[in-house]
Amino acid sequence: MSPNPDGRPAEEVAAEAQAIRSDDAPVHGGRVLAYVYDSGVPGLAEAARSALASFGEVNALDPTVFPSVRRMENDLVGWGLDLLGGGAGSCGAVTSGGTESCILAVLAAREHWRGRGGTGTPSLIMPVTAHAAFVKAAHLLGVRVVTLPVDPGTMRVRPEDVRDALDAEGSAAALVVASAPSYAHGVVDPVAEIAALAADRGVPCHSDACIGGLVLPYLRRQGRAVPDFDLSVPGVRSLSVDLHKYGYAPKGASLLLFSDAEYRRGTYFTYSSWPGYPVVNTTLQSTKSAGPMAAAWTVLQMLGDTGFDRAAARAIAATDRIVAAVDGIDGLRVATAPDTTLVAVVADGDEEAGGIDPFVLTDRMKARGWIIQPQPSCGDLPRTVHLTVQPTSLDTADEFVADLAAAAAECRALPWAQADPGLLAAAADLDAATLDDDTVSALLAFAGLSGEGSGRLPEDAAPIQALIEALPADLRNRLLAGFFSVLFTARRADGDGPPQGGDADPADD
Ligand SMILES: Cc1ncc(COP(=O)(O)O)c(C=O)c1O
Repeated sequence: MSPNPDGRPAEEVAAEAQAIRSDDAPVHGGRVLAYVYDSGVPGLAEAARSALASFGEVNALDPTVFPSVRRMENDLVGWGLDLLGGGAGSCGAVTSGGTESCILAVLAAREHWRGRGGTGTPSLIMPVTAHAAFVKAAHLLGVRVVTLPVDPGTMRVRPEDVRDALDAEGSAAALVVASAPSYAHGVVDPVAEIAALAADRGVPCHSDACIGGLVLPYLRRQGRAVPDFDLSVPGVRSLSVDLHKYGYAPKGASLLLFSDAEYRRGTYFTYSSWPGYPVVNTTLQSTKSAGPMAAAWTVLQMLGDTGFDRAAARAIAATDRIVAAVDGIDGLRVATAPDTTLVAVVADGDEEAGGIDPFVLTDRMKARGWIIQPQPSCGDLPRTVHLTVQPTSLDTADEFVADLAAAAAECRALPWAQADPGLLAAAADLDAATLDDDTVSALLAFAGLSGEGSGRLPEDAAPIQALIEALPADLRNRLLAGFFSVLFTARRADGDGPPQGGDADPADD
């Protein structure tokens, strides 16, 4: 039953929707250095929102009924191909986001592999730094992932490791993925070498430019050294680039570009043997809103090449400023020189040597009103803080680096975050596969991830980050899923389920 069976006036509902949002991180203003991409261009976000709203009900399922969809999608894809090395016959699609683009890229490769006579389970070869979306794609599509380490100095995959993996996989290899750049460290893998090795063995390469694809071409035009990464690289058969990241569009839009229509065909789904309309889907969704595409199209029209160039120049200027400042703060350094506008900050030395814990730093920055993103250690790659630097970061860079230095000074007097030894000892006896929901809830409460008016991480989240980092991966994943399962336990009309928002007490559930 609806919480308001007789409905409510629009203004009242809108006011409540705004009130619900009041605890959200701000999406503009340069104080959030992950999740959001703020161009800072006056009027741009408003125009995009207006397009989002006015096309929200247009159904991009059928471009013959809604020809606006065809026009806007072809404009966006055409621009992407011009910018990102598309040759004769290249093509693409607008998808709902990076993950959908990555899933479809893996689907294209799997179908191509099957078309070449592949049998059994195909494999996807990727650096450990490639986005989790590819692991999700492999999980959904019955593909086996072969993960390669990266050079701990450069954070890039080594071509010889790709070659060895390709040789070991032989005819099972269906796709090689390279990042341009990686989310975690902001560096571009050696795409040209990797794609050549793959092409020699008849294996396609996907260049994942979801986050950097609309920045790197402009940095190159500005005279920066940018490694080859786009569709012009021989062997790159597909490339993903997100419009809702550095395309400054509202969420829900990405481009998946292909070298040729033959390769793209594997992503199309058609079905006409049921009594309803013949279904033709070019992406995972069927009925889909034209809103995000219209918003992205609006941004493209308004900014033009000059606007994107200026946005990239501002974001990279802010990045340079932040990188220089980080390297000047005792106990911190940049993990590796980034190729673009993503920065990973790491401790310079361990706790004994005066290194600063990235997890504690994240909390101290949060107390100063900045949202930066902790990234756990992974194998021999250390824990870091991720910064997605944006054009508006240039306006806030001086304040940011001053606060970073002050937060670092505070951190020097604080111990590094450690996982609770008692909890770790208890965890050692647990088998993630057989844990029931009650045990997961109890563990979450013990770890401080539920109870006490939560629904969010506590202000000092470093101990929780350290715990998550220290747990075995299967148990970690079970607890993370359990946490979200608790967050998304709906309150029902009969009063069952936790109260929502700031008062939620999932432990009482
Ligand atoms: C390199 C890369 N690939 C894929 C993705 C997944 O994109 P999305 O979050 O839009 O699904 C991201 C997201 O940050 C990314 O950085």
